Amino acid sequence: MKPAARTLLLSLALVAACRRERAAVTEIPKTPRGLPEHVDPGDNPTTLAKVTLGRFLFFDPRMSTTDFMSCADCHREDHGWAGRDSKSVNAIGKRTRRKALSAANAAYPTTFTWNGRADTLEGVISVGWSQLGMTDEEVIAKKLDGIPEYHALFEKAFGAPPTGLRIRQAVAAYLRVVKVGDSPYDRFMAGDTSALGEPAKRGLNAFNTLGCPSCHAPPLFSDWKFHNAGVGLADDDDQGRFEHTKVEEDRKRFRTPSLRNVANTGPWFHDGSAAALEDAIALMASGGVDNPRLDPQFKRRTPTPSEVAELKAFLLSLSGTPTFEAPKTLPGGRPRT
Ligand code: HEC
Ligand code: HEC
Repeated sequence: MKPAARTLLLSLALVAACRRERAAVTEIPKTPRGLPEHVDPGDNPTTLAKVTLGRFLFFDPRMSTTDFMSCADCHREDHGWAGRDSKSVNAIGKRTRRKALSAANAAYPTTFTWNGRADTLEGVISVGWSQLGMTDEEVIAKKLDGIPEYHALFEKAFGAPPTGLRIRQAVAAYLRVVKVGDSPYDRFMAGDTSALGEPAKRGLNAFNTLGCPSCHAPPLFSDWKFHNAGVGLADDDDQGRFEHTKVEEDRKRFRTPSLRNVANTGPWFHDGSAAALEDAIALMASGGVDNPRLDPQFKRRTPTPSEVAELKAFLLSLSGTPTFEAPKTLPGGRPRT
């Protein structure tokens, strides 16, 4: 090769590398204002190499058996990392029974899914992964190992080739640092009184006086416990927490969802039955739907339209900018789904 041609090639490679660099993760982002620091599990400490790898995997359709869909198809970064539909269609064309919860701020729940059938983030990733038609983790691991860029990323993160466990650990390490905080509410709480308008301030006041924080406890606006709000009573196919515990009182109990980013994650409730945020607020503020097992913390009352509007203004103030954007391209130049 002539020196001039080599220089040209080298500089082209450099430009490409710089482009890639811009899309790459260069540091683990700081926890945004308003959110607590999370605690890593002892067997999966967060590292930059794992986060970099996990971010690619989350958006990569090659995580599915048919190379057809990725985690991000149901957990959309442009939709509060939640599903857009009341029930999502999975990789084998079946509808999920429940609305896809947000995958952001996943460092914080102490129990996962609407009925708490996973205790760890690494564990719930198996649940999500099976939605991708995955039946054998090691088959996917082998497929990824055949992609040189992935092979190198696993070597960097684990000093070893991909396995099912390492894939789950990398995705978990990534999701643990996908955080959405620094919202107008957080700025208000940090002393910037102009961060919330008057309706949102009145909404915050109503939120507190109506007892919402007993379940939606700040700063994540959830207690991670299970309550019967009377949502989806007619749906015999979904018994909520009962399915996991077989304890009668747990019928129709669902985990309190975090209200962070709630403006962006509709439709709302475990069955996506509230098409508008106002509908979800009105149901909650009127004390849930009557049934013999309704949680006693709900109080029967009739909210006024202005109360609902103010509560909404407050909930809108819980949205912030996520710590991550989606990668533009994936290892091997593959586009994301
Ligand atoms: C076909 C849609 C679909 C796909 C694909 C999917 N998920 Fe999910 N995800 C869901 C649904 C639905 C739930 C709620 C499940 C439930 O409560 O029964 C959920 C729940 C979760 C949760 C729990 C959040 C919480 O607060 O408890 C996490 C984390 C998650 N998914 C991550 C992932 C990851 C990582 C992948 C890819 C490996 C993935 N998901 C793929 C639909 C999907
Ligand atoms: C007794 C506990 C409890 C109290 C009190 C409570 N909530 Fe809830 N909230 C829940 C549970 C549980 C759900 C999920 C219900 C379901 O989907 O089955 C929920 C869901 C929501 C949702 C929908 C979120 C989503 O992502 O789908 C909103 C909005 C909401 N609550 C707002 C409020 C407001 C405002 C108040 C006070 C007026 C309030 N809640 C009081 C337990 C509670």
